[in-house]
Amino acid sequence: MNNLYVISGVTGMTGNELVRQILAGNKGSVIGFDNFFCSSIDTVEDCIDDPRFTFFQYDLNNIAQMAEIGYLVNREKKNYDKLFYINCAAVVHTEYFYRVNTTFDTNVVGMRTFLDQAIEVGADAYINCSTSEVYSMQSFKEGGVKESDFLLMSDAEHSQRTSYATGKLLTEFFMKDAVNNGKIRGASLRFANVYSKNERFAKHILPHIVNSLIDNGKVVLLENSKINKRTFLHNIDSCAAVLHLLEHDDALDGSVYNVATDEEISILDLVALIGSKLGIENPEITFSGYRESDPERRVLSTEKLRTRTGWEPKITLSEGIDMIVDFRKNS
Ligand SMILES: NC(=O)c1ccc[n+]([C@@H]2O[C@H](COP(=O)([O-])OP(=O)(O)OC[C@H]3O[C@@H](n4cnc5c(N)ncnc54)[C@H](O)[C@@H]3O)[C@@H](O)[C@H]2O)c1
Repeated sequence: MNNLYVISGVTGMTGNELVRQILAGNKGSVIGFDNFFCSSIDTVEDCIDDPRFTFFQYDLNNIAQMAEIGYLVNREKKNYDKLFYINCAAVVHTEYFYRVNTTFDTNVVGMRTFLDQAIEVGADAYINCSTSEVYSMQSFKEGGVKESDFLLMSDAEHSQRTSYATGKLLTEFFMKDAVNNGKIRGASLRFANVYSKNERFAKHILPHIVNSLIDNGKVVLLENSKINKRTFLHNIDSCAAVLHLLEHDDALDGSVYNVATDEEISILDLVALIGSKLGIENPEITFSGYRESDPERRVLSTEKLRTRTGWEPKITLSEGIDMIVDFRKNS
């Protein structure tokens, strides 16, 4: 197998692990770019010297830079079996969810520009990274919410937070439209709470708890954390899902796939678990602040992805936390 993967947002949490898995699995070469909006070249330092990886500090919203990527792909594609586009570039993370204009420009317009280019260069498939945020306040039920469940989203009356999810939802329609009209194969993936050992700008709850406990022996949490429960998906598993899908053309029907684990834990139990791994019994927790439109639970059914591609998550939460702690202690 010798494929060409074109990846936007390649130094982000999903992009950098995709590069690692593609190169380690001898799947082909990568042309990747990122504008370092919230990442740096450090995340791919172990791959950057590999001749199969070409990196550009480019912006998805810059027309001239995207034209250069298109030109390069057109020149190189004849040397490869298949050509895949994976759109990881996004304005993401909780603090940005409220910034309607930036998230729209990059997450919606940028996604469509990249999709148009994939179609123009004749790519075999396009992967659209969407989000479990689209389930909004209805994000759990017995056995997990399914892709086909109807959505009831909180709106501007409640919180600007859902603007991020609304934009991502629109991209799922672009994806489906392109496949329905025979322009390309592809799918949208609704990821839920992805984490990695080395998030550079660690805003997520897992690195926040680990870092706080290591630095201060205590942690500050939102009031929501008194009742919230979550599942967490390691980026090794989220990226394996992307590559699994690309190997199953029949599954690339323009539809949506949940990507998650069903290992649910309350945030309070999570603090206790991380504390126990760090030798801190009953860590001190202070509650401060409240987040509107934050669902109490987020449990997704992954039956569709598992049945169609054979994917299943491999990293348990306990193993994933050990990786974060080891990385933090050794860096
Ligand atoms: N992390 C999660 O929990 C999660 C959950 C659901 C969905 N997702 C989705 O998965 C995808 C990947 O997310 P991630 O976790 O890797 O996020 P990330 O923030 O780690 O990576 C996104 C990358 O995109 C880059 N970027 C932003 N704007 C850009 C632009 N205009 N041009 C070029 N690069 C740009 C950033 O610098 C960053 O490196 C995103 O579409 C995100 O919405 C992530």
